[in-house]
Amino acid sequence: MEGLIEPHGGKLVSRVLEGKEREEVDRRSRGLKKIRLSDREVSDIEMIGIGALSPIEGFMCKDDYHSVMDTMTLKNGLPWTIPITLSTSAETAKTFKEGEEIALTDKNGEILAVMLAEEIFSHDKEKEAIQVYGTREDKHPGVKKVYEMGDILVGGTVSILKRVEHADFREERLDPRETRALFREKGWKRVVGFQTRNPIHRAHEYIQKCALETVDGLMIHPLVGETKGDDIPASIRMRCYKALIDNYYPKDRVVLAVNPAAMRYAGPKEAIFHALIRKNYGCTHFIVGRDHAGVGGYYGTFDAHYIFDEFDRMAIGITPMFFDYTFYCKKCAGMASFKSCPHDSTHHITLSGSKVREMLRNGACPPPEFSRPEVAQILIEAMKVQAPQV
Ligand code: ADX
Repeated sequence: MEGLIEPHGGKLVSRVLEGKEREEVDRRSRGLKKIRLSDREVSDIEMIGIGALSPIEGFMCKDDYHSVMDTMTLKNGLPWTIPITLSTSAETAKTFKEGEEIALTDKNGEILAVMLAEEIFSHDKEKEAIQVYGTREDKHPGVKKVYEMGDILVGGTVSILKRVEHADFREERLDPRETRALFREKGWKRVVGFQTRNPIHRAHEYIQKCALETVDGLMIHPLVGETKGDDIPASIRMRCYKALIDNYYPKDRVVLAVNPAAMRYAGPKEAIFHALIRKNYGCTHFIVGRDHAGVGGYYGTFDAHYIFDEFDRMAIGITPMFFDYTFYCKKCAGMASFKSCPHDSTHHITLSGSKVREMLRNGACPPPEFSRPEVAQILIEAMKVQAPQV
Protein backbone atom coordinates (compact mmCIF):
# COMPACT_ATOMS: atom_id res chain seq x y z
CA MET A 1 0.00 0.00 0.00
CA GLU A 2 1.09 3.57 0.53
CA GLY A 3 3.63 2.68 3.24
CA LEU A 4 2.17 5.05 5.81
CA ILE A 5 0.48 4.07 9.04
CA GLU A 6 -2.99 2.58 8.47
CA PRO A 7 -5.99 4.64 9.52
CA HIS A 8 -7.75 3.47 12.68
CA GLY A 9 -9.76 0.38 11.72
CA GLY A 10 -7.75 -0.06 8.50
CA LYS A 11 -9.64 2.15 6.07
CA LEU A 12 -9.94 5.91 5.70
CA VAL A 13 -13.63 6.72 5.84
CA SER A 14 -15.10 9.07 3.24
CA ARG A 15 -18.68 10.19 3.74
CA VAL A 16 -18.68 13.23 1.46
CA LEU A 17 -21.14 12.68 -1.39
CA GLU A 18 -20.18 13.59 -4.92
CA GLY A 19 -21.57 13.73 -8.47
CA LYS A 20 -24.92 12.17 -9.31
CA GLU A 21 -25.42 10.61 -5.90
CA ARG A 22 -24.96 14.01 -4.28
CA GLU A 23 -27.46 15.59 -6.65
CA GLU A 24 -30.06 12.93 -5.93
CA VAL A 25 -29.65 13.06 -2.16
CA ASP A 26 -29.60 16.86 -2.31
CA ARG A 27 -32.97 16.87 -4.09
CA ARG A 28 -34.43 14.35 -1.66
CA SER A 29 -33.07 16.15 1.41
CA ARG A 30 -35.35 19.16 0.97
CA GLY A 31 -38.43 17.18 1.95
CA LEU A 32 -36.86 15.63 5.07
CA LYS A 33 -37.41 16.49 8.72
CA LYS A 34 -34.54 18.52 10.04
CA ILE A 35 -32.24 18.62 13.04
CA ARG A 36 -30.21 21.76 13.64
CA LEU A 37 -26.64 20.96 14.60
CA SER A 38 -24.61 22.61 17.35
CA ASP A 39 -21.13 23.95 16.54
CA ARG A 40 -19.60 20.79 17.93
CA GLU A 41 -21.87 18.55 15.87
CA VAL A 42 -21.02 20.55 12.73
CA SER A 43 -17.33 19.95 13.35
CA ASP A 44 -18.05 16.28 14.13
CA ILE A 45 -19.77 15.72 10.76
CA GLU A 46 -16.90 17.49 9.04
CA MET A 47 -14.45 15.15 10.79
CA ILE A 48 -16.58 12.09 10.00
CA GLY A 49 -16.90 13.14 6.35
CA ILE A 50 -13.16 13.44 5.74
CA GLY A 51 -12.22 10.31 7.69
CA ALA A 52 -10.55 12.10 10.60
CA LEU A 53 -12.66 9.95 12.94
CA SER A 54 -12.21 6.68 11.00
CA PRO A 55 -13.63 4.08 11.43
CA ILE A 56 -16.66 6.11 12.59
CA GLU A 57 -19.14 6.77 9.78
CA GLY A 58 -21.87 8.57 11.66
CA PHE A 59 -23.22 9.52 15.05
CA MET A 60 -23.02 6.67 17.53
CA CYS A 61 -25.85 4.24 18.12
CA LYS A 62 -26.60 3.01 21.62
CA ASP A 63 -24.20 0.02 21.67
CA ASP A 64 -21.20 2.05 20.60
CA TYR A 65 -22.14 4.94 22.89
CA HIS A 66 -22.25 2.72 25.99
CA SER A 67 -19.33 0.56 24.90
CA VAL A 68 -17.10 3.65 24.57
CA MET A 69 -18.04 4.75 28.08
CA ASP A 70 -17.90 1.28 29.69
CA THR A 71 -14.86 -0.26 28.02
CA MET A 72 -13.10 2.53 26.05
CA THR A 73 -13.72 0.55 22.86
CA LEU A 74 -16.26 0.59 20.08
CA LYS A 75 -18.53 -2.44 20.08
CA ASN A 76 -16.22 -4.01 17.46
CA GLY A 77 -13.40 -3.88 20.04
CA LEU A 78 -11.39 -1.00 18.57
CA PRO A 79 -10.07 1.53 21.09
CA TRP A 80 -12.24 4.66 21.29
CA THR A 81 -12.74 6.98 24.26
CA ILE A 82 -15.01 9.88 23.31
CA PRO A 83 -18.71 9.55 22.39
CA ILE A 84 -19.54 11.10 19.02
CA THR A 85 -23.19 11.92 19.43
CA LEU A 86 -26.02 13.87 17.91
CA SER A 87 -28.49 15.16 20.48
CA THR A 88 -31.90 16.69 20.13
CA SER A 89 -34.86 17.57 22.33
CA ALA A 90 -37.54 15.00 23.19
CA GLU A 91 -39.97 17.24 21.31
CA THR A 92 -37.99 17.20 18.05
CA ALA A 93 -37.30 13.47 18.40
CA LYS A 94 -41.06 12.84 18.37
CA THR A 95 -41.29 14.28 14.86
CA PHE A 96 -39.45 11.38 13.18
CA LYS A 97 -39.06 7.63 13.58
CA GLU A 98 -36.22 5.13 13.63
CA GLY A 99 -35.35 4.15 10.08
CA GLU A 100 -36.33 7.56 8.69
CA GLU A 101 -33.86 9.70 6.79
CA ILE A 102 -33.35 13.16 8.31
CA ALA A 103 -31.54 16.29 7.20
CA LEU A 104 -28.87 17.91 9.36
CA THR A 105 -28.61 21.68 9.09
CA ASP A 106 -26.34 24.44 10.30
CA LYS A 107 -27.53 27.29 12.51
CA ASN A 108 -29.04 29.09 9.51
CA GLY A 109 -31.08 26.09 8.47
CA GLU A 110 -28.87 25.22 5.51
CA ILE A 111 -28.71 21.46 4.92
CA LEU A 112 -25.20 20.09 5.35
CA ALA A 113 -25.83 16.36 5.50
CA VAL A 114 -28.41 13.61 5.63
CA MET A 115 -28.51 10.80 8.11
CA LEU A 116 -30.42 7.58 8.49
CA ALA A 117 -31.85 7.76 12.01
CA GLU A 118 -31.00 4.17 12.90
CA GLU A 119 -31.59 4.54 16.62
CA ILE A 120 -33.26 7.08 18.87
CA PHE A 121 -32.30 6.62 22.51
CA SER A 122 -31.82 8.46 25.76
CA HIS A 123 -28.79 10.58 26.49
CA ASP A 124 -27.20 9.27 29.68
CA LYS A 125 -25.70 12.57 30.68
CA GLU A 126 -24.72 11.63 34.21
CA LYS A 127 -22.91 8.51 33.06
CA GLU A 128 -21.17 10.44 30.29
CA ALA A 129 -20.03 13.11 32.73
CA ILE A 130 -18.49 10.54 35.08
CA GLN A 131 -17.12 8.06 32.54
CA VAL A 132 -15.69 10.52 30.03
CA TYR A 133 -14.83 13.56 32.14
CA GLY A 134 -14.44 11.96 35.56
CA THR A 135 -16.70 14.47 37.32
CA ARG A 136 -20.33 15.46 37.64
CA GLU A 137 -19.45 19.12 38.22
CA ASP A 138 -20.90 21.45 35.65
CA LYS A 139 -18.02 23.84 36.33
CA HIS A 140 -16.08 21.48 34.06
CA PRO A 141 -16.51 22.95 30.53
CA GLY A 142 -16.94 19.52 28.91
CA VAL A 143 -19.53 18.39 31.45
CA LYS A 144 -21.34 21.70 31.12
CA LYS A 145 -21.67 21.03 27.37
CA VAL A 146 -23.05 17.55 28.00
CA TYR A 147 -25.69 18.94 30.36
CA GLU A 148 -26.63 21.61 27.82
CA MET A 149 -27.15 19.04 25.06
CA GLY A 150 -30.55 17.52 24.23
CA ASP A 151 -32.01 14.64 26.22
CA ILE A 152 -32.30 12.34 23.22
CA LEU A 153 -29.53 10.93 21.03
CA VAL A 154 -29.93 9.94 17.41
CA GLY A 155 -27.46 7.47 15.93
CA GLY A 156 -26.83 6.64 12.30
CA THR A 157 -24.57 6.94 9.28
CA VAL A 158 -24.01 10.43 7.96
CA SER A 159 -23.62 11.51 4.31
CA ILE A 160 -22.24 14.99 3.70
CA LEU A 161 -23.95 17.07 1.02
CA LYS A 162 -22.16 20.31 1.56
CA ARG A 163 -18.87 20.84 3.32
CA VAL A 164 -18.71 23.78 5.68
CA GLU A 165 -17.09 26.71 3.92
CA HIS A 166 -14.45 28.09 6.21
CA ALA A 167 -13.17 31.56 5.46
CA ASP A 168 -10.10 31.10 7.66
CA PHE A 169 -6.93 28.97 7.49
CA ARG A 170 -7.68 27.88 3.95
CA GLU A 171 -4.13 26.76 3.28
CA GLU A 172 -3.89 24.82 6.51
CA ARG A 173 -7.21 22.98 6.22
CA LEU A 174 -5.72 19.73 5.03
CA ASP A 175 -7.86 16.59 5.09
CA PRO A 176 -6.32 13.29 6.25
CA ARG A 177 -6.04 12.28 2.61
CA GLU A 178 -4.03 15.44 1.92
CA THR A 179 -1.68 15.22 4.91
CA ARG A 180 -1.03 11.59 4.01
CA ALA A 181 -0.20 12.60 0.43
CA LEU A 182 2.07 15.36 1.73
CA PHE A 183 3.98 13.03 4.05
CA ARG A 184 4.40 10.57 1.19
CA GLU A 185 5.62 13.31 -1.11
CA LYS A 186 8.15 14.43 1.49
CA GLY A 187 9.28 10.86 1.98
CA TRP A 188 8.47 10.99 5.70
CA LYS A 189 7.99 7.57 7.25
CA ARG A 190 7.88 8.65 10.88
CA VAL A 191 5.80 11.72 11.60
CA VAL A 192 5.00 13.13 15.01
CA GLY A 193 1.74 14.99 15.58
CA PHE A 194 1.39 17.82 18.07
CA GLN A 195 -1.99 18.82 19.49
CA THR A 196 -2.44 22.28 20.95
CA ARG A 197 -5.13 24.75 21.87
CA ASN A 198 -2.67 27.40 23.09
CA PRO A 199 0.02 29.62 21.67
CA ILE A 200 3.26 27.66 21.50
CA HIS A 201 5.65 28.64 24.27
CA ARG A 202 9.20 27.42 24.82
CA ALA A 203 8.05 24.32 26.74
CA HIS A 204 5.89 23.24 23.77
CA GLU A 205 8.68 24.07 21.34
CA TYR A 206 11.15 22.03 23.35
CA ILE A 207 9.05 18.86 23.41
CA GLN A 208 8.28 19.19 19.70
CA LYS A 209 11.96 19.52 18.86
CA CYS A 210 12.98 16.66 21.18
CA ALA A 211 10.43 14.51 19.34
CA LEU A 212 11.58 15.76 15.94
CA GLU A 213 15.14 14.62 16.74
CA THR A 214 13.95 11.02 16.45
CA VAL A 215 11.46 11.17 13.55
CA ASP A 216 11.37 12.52 9.98
CA GLY A 217 8.78 15.26 10.33
CA LEU A 218 6.58 17.21 12.72
CA MET A 219 2.96 18.09 12.11
CA ILE A 220 1.85 20.99 14.29
CA HIS A 221 -1.86 20.34 14.35
CA PRO A 222 -3.64 22.99 16.42
CA LEU A 223 -7.25 22.40 17.26
CA VAL A 224 -9.37 25.16 15.72
CA GLY A 225 -12.87 23.89 16.47
CA GLU A 226 -14.89 25.11 19.41
CA THR A 227 -12.88 25.93 22.56
CA LYS A 228 -13.95 27.50 25.83
CA GLY A 229 -14.47 31.24 25.79
CA ASP A 230 -11.30 32.18 27.62
CA ASP A 231 -8.94 30.17 25.39
CA ILE A 232 -7.02 32.26 22.84
CA PRO A 233 -8.93 32.48 19.55
CA ALA A 234 -7.52 30.26 16.82
CA SER A 235 -6.95 33.22 14.48
CA ILE A 236 -4.46 34.75 16.92
CA ARG A 237 -2.84 31.42 17.68
CA MET A 238 -2.29 30.72 14.00
CA ARG A 239 -0.35 33.97 13.66
CA CYS A 240 1.81 32.89 16.60
CA TYR A 241 2.48 29.45 15.10
CA LYS A 242 3.48 30.95 11.76
CA ALA A 243 5.83 33.48 13.38
CA LEU A 244 7.41 30.70 15.38
CA ILE A 245 7.90 28.41 12.38
CA ASP A 246 9.28 31.29 10.29
CA ASN A 247 11.87 32.16 12.90
CA TYR A 248 12.78 28.98 14.72
CA TYR A 249 11.80 25.83 12.83
CA PRO A 250 13.35 23.92 9.91
CA LYS A 251 10.58 24.54 7.37
CA ASP A 252 11.27 21.41 5.37
CA ARG A 253 10.59 19.26 8.41
CA VAL A 254 7.39 20.91 9.66
CA VAL A 255 3.80 20.89 8.43
CA LEU A 256 1.27 23.29 9.93
CA ALA A 257 -2.28 22.04 9.44
CA VAL A 258 -5.43 22.54 11.48
CA ASN A 259 -7.60 20.05 13.33
CA PRO A 260 -11.25 21.10 12.97
CA ALA A 261 -12.32 19.17 16.11
CA ALA A 262 -14.07 20.76 19.07
CA MET A 263 -12.19 20.64 22.36
CA ARG A 264 -13.73 18.39 25.04
CA TYR A 265 -11.31 19.01 27.94
CA ALA A 266 -11.59 15.31 28.79
CA GLY A 267 -7.92 14.96 29.82
CA PRO A 268 -6.73 11.34 29.50
CA LYS A 269 -9.75 10.16 27.47
CA GLU A 270 -9.19 13.01 25.05
CA ALA A 271 -5.47 12.21 24.80
CA ILE A 272 -6.38 8.81 23.30
CA PHE A 273 -8.95 10.48 21.04
CA HIS A 274 -6.39 13.08 19.91
CA ALA A 275 -3.85 10.34 19.17
CA LEU A 276 -6.34 8.31 17.09
CA ILE A 277 -7.30 11.40 15.09
CA ARG A 278 -3.63 12.08 14.30
CA LYS A 279 -3.19 8.45 13.29
CA ASN A 280 -5.94 9.02 10.73
CA TYR A 281 -4.05 12.08 9.46
CA GLY A 282 -1.03 9.80 8.92
CA CYS A 283 1.09 10.46 12.02
CA THR A 284 3.07 7.55 13.41
CA HIS A 285 3.83 9.29 16.71
CA PHE A 286 1.95 11.63 19.00
CA ILE A 287 3.19 13.97 21.74
CA VAL A 288 1.56 13.77 25.15
CA GLY A 289 2.99 16.18 27.72
CA ARG A 290 1.77 17.27 31.09
CA ASP A 291 -1.95 17.48 31.76
CA HIS A 292 -2.82 16.90 28.11
CA ALA A 293 -6.31 18.28 27.28
CA GLY A 294 -6.75 19.03 30.97
CA VAL A 295 -8.66 21.84 32.59
CA GLY A 296 -8.64 23.19 36.15
CA GLY A 297 -7.42 20.53 38.55
CA TYR A 298 -9.64 17.72 37.25
CA TYR A 299 -6.88 15.34 36.13
CA GLY A 300 -3.55 14.21 37.49
CA THR A 301 -0.56 15.76 35.68
CA PHE A 302 0.29 12.48 33.95
CA ASP A 303 -3.08 10.70 33.79
CA ALA A 304 -2.96 11.21 30.03
CA HIS A 305 0.25 9.10 29.97
CA TYR A 306 -1.04 6.32 32.24
CA ILE A 307 -4.22 5.76 30.23
CA PHE A 308 -2.16 4.40 27.30
CA ASP A 309 -1.15 1.47 29.56
CA GLU A 310 -4.77 0.34 29.58
CA PHE A 311 -4.66 -0.43 25.86
CA ASP A 312 -2.93 -2.92 23.65
CA ARG A 313 -0.42 -0.64 21.88
CA MET A 314 -0.91 -2.50 18.61
CA ALA A 315 -4.62 -1.72 18.74
CA ILE A 316 -3.89 1.99 19.30
CA GLY A 317 -1.34 1.84 16.47
CA ILE A 318 0.12 5.33 16.83
CA THR A 319 3.09 5.57 19.24
CA PRO A 320 2.72 8.06 22.08
CA MET A 321 5.78 10.13 23.01
CA PHE A 322 5.49 11.10 26.64
CA PHE A 323 7.08 14.23 28.08
CA ASP A 324 7.53 15.26 31.67
CA TYR A 325 6.95 18.83 32.87
CA THR A 326 9.37 21.02 30.89
CA PHE A 327 10.80 24.49 31.60
CA TYR A 328 13.90 26.65 31.18
CA CYS A 329 16.54 26.01 33.86
CA LYS A 330 18.96 28.84 34.53
CA LYS A 331 21.61 26.49 35.89
CA CYS A 332 21.36 24.09 32.97
CA ALA A 333 21.21 27.20 30.76
CA GLY A 334 18.63 25.49 28.57
CA MET A 335 15.26 23.84 28.37
CA ALA A 336 14.89 20.75 30.51
CA SER A 337 12.35 18.71 32.42
CA PHE A 338 12.03 17.22 35.87
CA LYS A 339 13.35 14.08 34.24
CA SER A 340 16.54 15.62 32.91
CA CYS A 341 17.32 18.54 35.25
CA PRO A 342 18.91 17.99 38.68
CA HIS A 343 18.38 21.55 39.96
CA ASP A 344 15.65 22.71 42.28
CA SER A 345 12.73 24.81 41.11
CA THR A 346 14.29 28.14 42.22
CA HIS A 347 16.39 27.82 39.05
CA HIS A 348 13.43 27.16 36.80
CA ILE A 349 11.51 29.76 34.82
CA THR A 350 7.86 28.82 35.00
CA LEU A 351 5.04 31.34 34.82
CA SER A 352 1.42 30.90 35.78
CA GLY A 353 -1.21 31.64 33.16
CA SER A 354 -2.48 34.62 35.14
CA LYS A 355 1.03 36.08 35.48
CA VAL A 356 1.61 35.80 31.72
CA ARG A 357 -1.76 37.41 31.03
CA GLU A 358 -0.98 40.28 33.35
CA MET A 359 2.40 40.87 31.68
CA LEU A 360 0.95 40.81 28.18
CA ARG A 361 -1.88 43.10 29.19
CA ASN A 362 0.69 45.58 30.48
CA GLY A 363 2.54 45.34 27.19
CA ALA A 364 5.44 43.49 28.84
CA CYS A 365 7.12 40.57 27.08
CA PRO A 366 7.45 37.43 29.18
CA PRO A 367 11.12 36.40 29.38
CA PRO A 368 12.52 34.87 26.17
CA GLU A 369 13.17 31.70 28.17
CA PHE A 370 9.39 31.37 28.50
CA SER A 371 8.08 32.67 25.19
CA ARG A 372 9.74 33.69 21.93
CA PRO A 373 9.55 37.50 21.59
CA GLU A 374 7.90 37.22 18.14
CA VAL A 375 5.08 35.21 19.72
CA ALA A 376 4.80 37.48 22.76
CA GLN A 377 4.53 40.53 20.48
CA ILE A 378 1.54 39.07 18.62
CA LEU A 379 -0.15 38.26 21.92
CA ILE A 380 0.51 41.75 23.30
CA GLU A 381 -1.07 43.28 20.19
CA ALA A 382 -4.05 40.93 20.51
CA MET A 383 -4.42 41.81 24.20
CA LYS A 384 -4.93 45.44 23.24
CA VAL A 385 -8.10 44.42 21.45
CA GLN A 386 -9.34 41.72 23.82
CA ALA A 387 -8.24 39.89 26.95
CA PRO A 388 -7.74 36.24 26.05
CA GLN A 389 -6.42 33.53 28.35
CA VAL A 390 -2.82 32.46 27.89
S1 ADX B 1 -3.96 20.87 25.20
O1 ADX B 1 -5.26 21.03 25.88
O2 ADX B 1 -4.04 21.00 23.77
O3 ADX B 1 -3.30 19.61 25.64
P1 ADX B 1 -1.73 22.75 25.35
O4 ADX B 1 -1.94 23.41 24.04
O5 ADX B 1 -1.26 23.63 26.46
O6 ADX B 1 -3.10 22.08 25.83
O7 ADX B 1 -0.71 21.56 25.26
C1 ADX B 1 -0.28 20.99 24.10
C2 ADX B 1 0.64 19.79 24.41
O8 ADX B 1 1.80 20.27 25.12
C3 ADX B 1 0.02 18.74 25.33
O9 ADX B 1 0.50 17.46 24.97
C4 ADX B 1 0.53 19.13 26.71
O10 ADX B 1 0.55 18.02 27.55
C5 ADX B 1 1.93 19.62 26.39
N1 ADX B 1 2.48 20.62 27.34
C6 ADX B 1 2.06 21.88 27.56
N2 ADX B 1 2.85 22.54 28.44
C7 ADX B 1 3.81 21.64 28.81
C8 ADX B 1 4.96 21.68 29.72
N3 ADX B 1 5.28 22.78 30.40
N4 ADX B 1 5.68 20.57 29.85
C9 ADX B 1 5.38 19.43 29.15
N5 ADX B 1 4.35 19.33 28.29
C10 ADX B 1 3.57 20.41 28.11
